[in-house]
Amino acid sequence: MQDSTDPLNISRAEAIALLQYYAAAGVTEALSDAPVDRYALAPKPPQNAVPSAAPEPARTPPAGRAASPAAGTPKTIPLEQDASAGIARDIAARCQNLDELREALAAYDGCALKFTAKNLVFSDGNPEARIMLVGEAPGRDEDIQGRPFVGVSGQLLDRMLAAIGLDRTKVYIANVLPWRPPGNRTPTPAEQAVCMPFIERQIELVDPAVLVFLGGVSAKQMLNTPEGIMKLRGRWTSYRIGSRDVPALPVFHPAYLLRQPAQKRFAWRDFLSLKQRIENLP
Ligand code: URA
Repeated sequence: MQDSTDPLNISRAEAIALLQYYAAAGVTEALSDAPVDRYALAPKPPQNAVPSAAPEPARTPPAGRAASPAAGTPKTIPLEQDASAGIARDIAARCQNLDELREALAAYDGCALKFTAKNLVFSDGNPEARIMLVGEAPGRDEDIQGRPFVGVSGQLLDRMLAAIGLDRTKVYIANVLPWRPPGNRTPTPAEQAVCMPFIERQIELVDPAVLVFLGGVSAKQMLNTPEGIMKLRGRWTSYRIGSRDVPALPVFHPAYLLRQPAQKRFAWRDFLSLKQRIENLP
């Protein structure tokens, strides 16, 4: 039945199909009754903003780490993307402490994700902690609250930490990306490349004794490896900060564990290994 007051002028069945499409596309909230064409309203991203839909799956090798070309990675990095990551690197390098880094990120317009996110999600926990956890990117709840891991996967993470005697006063938490990708889609290589210098600097400034990479995106990106989390998890490796090699442990992402509870036994094993490592810290 058509409703003449309906601005879209569509049938009930069409409206239901539209809602189902939105849900499948990851639309999680209705902001107002009438649609708004934000492309028409939005100020044009500045010239150094990297588009969300990068044309090529390139990655910029993080400074100080060996570049091991992943399968399918183009041999050359598009100049524009390389330049954007270079600008980000210069900005991040100038920050002398975490407050400056947060302010620099808040003022940084070079990542298109900033224009669709509600909040910058910089960190949570204790910046003096010896253990630093690095996740992938904020989800809906984190975007709303401006803090990492506050949704259901964050609650599971808190329980996993508690199981080995840790809580957020004893760890510092950040993400590879400080802005939520729309609909929680996987961040593009271009978005990852421009955000990389910031998380690298954040790790440098926190200077943890132990790093934990939560999930495949974080582990692959931070370790610059094409290997997947199935192979990486539970295997201690190291992450270079300046002239120091920091022990680093990739583990399953809590969101994955919520979908695949049977894998929790491996996560438990990995967290016990983490517990043992931190007990033996000098
Ligand atoms: N998943 C992440 O990787 N990070 C968050 O902050 C929340 C969910």
